[in-house]
This record gives sequence, structure tokens and C-alpha cells, in this order.
Amino acid sequence: MKHLIRGRTLSFHADPVTTEQAYTYLEDGAIITENGKIAAIGTYADLASPEIPETDHRPHLIIPGFIDPHLHFPQVQVIASWGAQLLDWLNTYTFPEEARFADPDHASAMAGRFLDLLLAHGTTSAVAFCSSHATSADALFTASSARNMAMIAGKVMMDRNALPAVLDTAQSSYDDSRRLIGDWHGKGRQLYAITPRFAITSTPAQLEAAGALAREHPDCHIQTHLSENHAEIAFTRELYPQARDYLDIYETYGLLGPKLLLGHAIHLEEREIARMAETGSRAVFCPTSNLFLGSGLFDADGLRASGVVSGIATDIGGGTSYSMLQTLNEGYKILQLRNQKLHPFAAFHWATRGNALALGMADRIGTLDAGTDADFIVLDARATPAMSLRMERAETLAEELFILQILGDDRAVAQTYVAGQAMLGRDG
Ligand code: GUN
Ligand code: ZN
Repeated sequence: MKHLIRGRTLSFHADPVTTEQAYTYLEDGAIITENGKIAAIGTYADLASPEIPETDHRPHLIIPGFIDPHLHFPQVQVIASWGAQLLDWLNTYTFPEEARFADPDHASAMAGRFLDLLLAHGTTSAVAFCSSHATSADALFTASSARNMAMIAGKVMMDRNALPAVLDTAQSSYDDSRRLIGDWHGKGRQLYAITPRFAITSTPAQLEAAGALAREHPDCHIQTHLSENHAEIAFTRELYPQARDYLDIYETYGLLGPKLLLGHAIHLEEREIARMAETGSRAVFCPTSNLFLGSGLFDADGLRASGVVSGIATDIGGGTSYSMLQTLNEGYKILQLRNQKLHPFAAFHWATRGNALALGMADRIGTLDAGTDADFIVLDARATPAMSLRMERAETLAEELFILQILGDDRAVAQTYVAGQAMLGRDG
């Protein structure tokens, strides 16, 4: 059945950093959805028809749903844990909490709450690390299927340097990942990501198994971490003394390429940047996490100039907000410290089409183009008294977007549509 959704529509068809006319904005716009897809987008006057039921979101802004390309589902109760940098934070808070996801009841209770939080914050697709237990990935995919969300996720592969309760083995991680790929990859909107946590928690035998999975399933994404923290890098170099650098470890096991998502990628060497560009491997900027864990300042402009494609993500629970708006806010501040500028058009492109490009999925998600999946959100730039007061002095779309970027959070998300269905119990 067709449905018309009316509002001010904004969608990008190019990167505003490199292209002047990068977006389409319709002051009285409309989207027609049908069978989970965007059937048409245009002016309300052109698309309205007496046969099509309408939902009117004016004066709010309709943009593609946010995509969060790096976060950890079993860290929903780790977020806001005090006083540690990466390795201590993992050992003190994260691994013990992830151990609880061996219990399928706990995993499925958390999965529903996690996805409902994403939707409340306007995130319609995500790339998630699960725990090392296959049950955690089953729980997340089951909950995501029930909501018809496009989810990319994988069970973490980790066979050393952590609590026994979160360790697998090279063989069991291969077997479990293979089983999960068979059960979930390409089922409805679910996609599997092969997920070696990072080099510290994988033996060479396990990275070999990850490489075998990548060879056998070349259409699966691969997600891991790279060069987030100096102590992490030093320990990694001790564990893999023969590697030229951190990235070289992943390269040795055949993991580099456009499907590879490298969380953080902060403290990089020239050779690593060049290899990421040559192989098309992606970097993922996680601003709130990088500040919270004191990890460092991502070099967005430097990576772009070198030809590396980057995404931007929350990294829950090292990250401190589920909101991609707040993620863009902290991203803006990190780039200020590097004397780089994140313009609101570039920011909103990054969190939508830019992240879709990083995932190689811009033909399906991240825009409002006809023929793509009907995942979009309705934003209210006057959602709070402070936003409303500031909006009294806003004259341009760029100013409105920047107010959303700096002051907005889940309160600014009036509605979230997934495959054409309104997911929030308010505002239509
Ligand atoms: N590196 C390896 N595991 C993790 C994790 O769970 N969070 C972050 N921020 N970095 C990691
Ligand atoms: Zn992470």
C-alpha cells in the first residue's frame, strides 16, 4: 500500500566537501512509500493524490535515517563507566559485562532495548559487534528482523588476552561465524560482519580463520579495531613482532579491502594510510569514544586527502551517546582541535549517505532516492527550549542543521521510519 509522508525533505546525492550542489532540499516535499521502499520523492503538489493516505510532518525536516557503522551491542550497560583508558576499560568493565551475553535470555532482552534506543535516536541501520557468544548474534539478528532493520553484525572472535568467559577458540570462532553467516547473512535485511575484535585478542591461528571466512564469504563485511590508543599499539607490536605495523597484521591474514571497517584509526603511520587508501579499507571515526577514553584526535582531513574513505560512529559503550547528532557535535569539536572544520552539510552527509558509501550500500540506504529502502527520520530543530530560542535567530538551512548537530539528541527525533513503517509512538 502507498503512503505519502509530507515535510521539508533533505537528501544528499554527492559529498558537500567536494561538490557545490550536493543536496536536494524541498520546502514542501513529500515521499511516497510502497512495500518498504521509497517509490517517489518530489514536491507535495506533484505527488499528492486523493487515493494515497498522508502523514503530515510539517514544519519538521525529513532526512535519511542515520547509519551508525561502529558500536558494541553487549556494551549497553558499560556506557558511562568511570576512569579508565582503553585496555583497563576493557578488562575492568567490558569483558565482565560481555560475559553475561552467554545467557540467551539476557542477550535477547538487551537486544530489543538496544534496537529501540537506536530507533529513538534516529538510527535506522548499524554495524554492531556482538559478544563472543553466538547466542548474542542470534539475539541481535532476531530482534533486528522483528523490526525489519538493515543490521550488519557479527559475533566477536577473541581467543586470548581476556577473561575465559569471553574467549572462544580459533576453530569454534570459525565454526560459529560460519553457522551465523548461513543462518543470517542476506536473510531479509540482515547482513553478517566477520568480527575479529582486534589483534590483541586474536592468536595468529584465529586471524587465519578470519581470513578464511573472508575468502569464503567475500560479500560479508569485516569489522575490527586499529590504532586507537598508544598502549594498545605497543602491546600489539609485542604480540606480532614480525609485522611492519599494526595494519600489516590484518593485511597478512587477507583482511584488507573495501569491506573492512577499521574502528578508530587514530595513530596511523604513513605506510598504513597509504595501504588503507590503496586497498579501499575504511576508517571509522568514533568521536565521543575517543574523547571519553582519552584515545586521541582523528585526522579526518588528512585521511580524506590521502584517499581513505571514513565513516563516523558512536562506538557505544566506549562512546557516550547513542545520538548521531551528538556524535557529530563531538566530531566537530575534535576537528576544531585539529584546526579542521566540519560544516553542517558535510556532517549530515557523513552520518547518512557518507556512512552508506563507507559500507558500499548507498544504492540501498542513506539517501531519499526513489528505489531505495524507506528508512528516514523526522527532525525537530525546536525540540527543546534552548533549541527553540536559538532557532529564533536562524535564517538558513545550514544554521538549522548546525543547531541540530550541536544541541540535538533523541528529543529532536520526532519520528523514525524503517522500511516505510513509523517506529516511534508519537508524532504520527
Ligand atoms: N578495541 C577492542 N575492543 C574494543 C571495544 O570494545 N571498544 C573500543 N573502544 N575499542 C576496542
Ligand atoms: Zn569498538
